[in-house]
Amino acid sequence: MMDVGRHPKIELLAYSEIEDISGYVGNFKIRVRKKARYVDESECTACSDCVSVCPVVKPDEFQAGLSTRRAIYIPFPQAVPSAYIINIHECLGDNPIACGKCLEACDKKCIDFDMQDEMVEFEVGAVIVATGMEAYDPTEMDEYGYTRYENVITSLEFERLISAGGPTEGHLIRPTDRRTPQRIGFVQCVGSRCQDGRGNPYCSNICCMNTVKDSLLLKDHYPDTDITVFYMDMRTFGKGFEDLYMRSKAAGVKYIRGLPGEVTEDSETRNLRVWVENTTAGRLEEHELDMVVLSIGVVPRRDSDAVKQLLTLSRTSDGFFMESHPKLKPVDAPTKGVFLAGCAESPKDIKDSVTQASAAASRAAILLSSPTIKVEAITAVVDEALCTSCGLCAPVCPYGAMTWQKKEPARVISAACAGCGTCAAECQYGAITMRHFSDQAIYAMIDAMLDVDGAKPPIVAFACNWCSYMGADTAGTSRIEYPPNARLIRTMCSGRVSPDFVWYAFRKGAPVVLVSGCHYADCHYISANRQAVRRVDALWDGLEKRGVRPERLQLDWISAAEGQKWAKVMRELDELWAGVTAEEMQQTREALKEAKTPIRGALDRVRKPTAATMRCLRCGNEWPVTFDPAVDEERMCPKCRSNSVRVLVG
Ligand code: FES
Repeated sequence: MMDVGRHPKIELLAYSEIEDISGYVGNFKIRVRKKARYVDESECTACSDCVSVCPVVKPDEFQAGLSTRRAIYIPFPQAVPSAYIINIHECLGDNPIACGKCLEACDKKCIDFDMQDEMVEFEVGAVIVATGMEAYDPTEMDEYGYTRYENVITSLEFERLISAGGPTEGHLIRPTDRRTPQRIGFVQCVGSRCQDGRGNPYCSNICCMNTVKDSLLLKDHYPDTDITVFYMDMRTFGKGFEDLYMRSKAAGVKYIRGLPGEVTEDSETRNLRVWVENTTAGRLEEHELDMVVLSIGVVPRRDSDAVKQLLTLSRTSDGFFMESHPKLKPVDAPTKGVFLAGCAESPKDIKDSVTQASAAASRAAILLSSPTIKVEAITAVVDEALCTSCGLCAPVCPYGAMTWQKKEPARVISAACAGCGTCAAECQYGAITMRHFSDQAIYAMIDAMLDVDGAKPPIVAFACNWCSYMGADTAGTSRIEYPPNARLIRTMCSGRVSPDFVWYAFRKGAPVVLVSGCHYADCHYISANRQAVRRVDALWDGLEKRGVRPERLQLDWISAAEGQKWAKVMRELDELWAGVTAEEMQQTREALKEAKTPIRGALDRVRKPTAATMRCLRCGNEWPVTFDPAVDEERMCPKCRSNSVRVLVG
């Protein structure tokens, strides 16, 4: 941190917040609010005269609330700049009747209560998101008694207690009687790998090794301490980690496979009783301990959504930021020119965070050192003669790459366009198409696959390049058998599938049409597949209105690894296909001949907090739901797990 603060080419803005980011790769404009510190950082020598007179006492966040600080304070010992800051919401102010003591105590006159927030603007070529994570709060894990029993602490609180810079200067004490605990238990996976609705389902990656490290540290400082670790399974992968685990065992740390079912406290001795099923020995055990340390997991930062909005990022179902591609672009965000480092992307330890940060810095340096920026081969093109300036394309672009002004044709910022094609699918006037994936090419493919010379036409399946198409490939390479009567049209994203393509396929005699793409959180174009849902919703309404069975249009999310799911969907669609007669196909042709393609979806209508019924278009299952506008979830039939789920309102 000191090095960064001193580096001539790095401007460090501490105690600041980004208000707005606009622009695109190579050309970002960032507006930052430098919050008022109320202390002149260039004059402050951190002498602490002001601290000794400040009457406001608050829990110290850096010490996990185990010690206190004043309203004027340094957030943590290594903070850069090393200058005081006043939390103005806690401070009693400079009114001499109320307080103003720090003003009097500061000889250098660094304190300025009239200081205002300052807005600064920057132009940058690339952005690295390294916003980190937060620790899981285990209060909801009632069985462990955290906050009920003082001697049950979290691993973060333990870290502060055993740190030389902590509130006890590295002396481990137990909170109730301030004596050194002799028997300590560590409980693993608190808030991680949970399947019961509490905590998080993912592994937090760092907790096992953190406990191994802490146990060795304890044995080093207090060799006689009796240490027991309760675990589900120890995950000690990584260079030298297994060796460390073995050293911990050799030092006498006991590892018991089984997570405690309950922790209780003896009200007199304040000792803790831990009941656990030892699954290795196959018996129920009771352990009496002086202190229990909950090895807590990590969670995404609470303000991740704000960062996501600022940079048009995407989050996985775990809530961490999603990378552009897990294998090929693991540090790139889906938005070009934005890179991810550290736990903002997923839980990781220091070594992995530094590795990823180095990779992100290198990726940014490559971008910035190049005189030109390479754009994607497949980008949107606007035919200005056809564009009616309706402006519908701009809001559906996940990257903000479409710009539009009244009475002006839409424009594409090619450097920002990732090529998902959702703008082209949204355009009702055929004014937008994609380079190398033109509408004409797709119509020609539909024509070719439905030209069957009197035989029954096959299923027309639109599959996104990144997931569903690969899912079909996985099914093939894994030799999974499925009926072969579907013909695939590869699109970059399911968001590229224009309602016109589906309408055209039915008009041309397709018995069944499938739209498939990546699972909701996995769309490689941030949220483009949400547009596919909206359009399919509109198509289902439109088909039903014209007497066509909506189930003949199916929607499914199939990932690259889900060869089995692809085969299952194909088998189910084959049954559907078999039930479509030549007369029905002819009636559909007639019904849709003159009908205009439905464009607007029902999604906005159902995203209100309202009761609705869901109907699975695969198995016919129906169930009631209540919509919350803040929740944007993948729809799935609880019975057959199909994603062809239609919302029936009213
Ligand atoms: Fe697969 Fe968007 S990339 S659905």
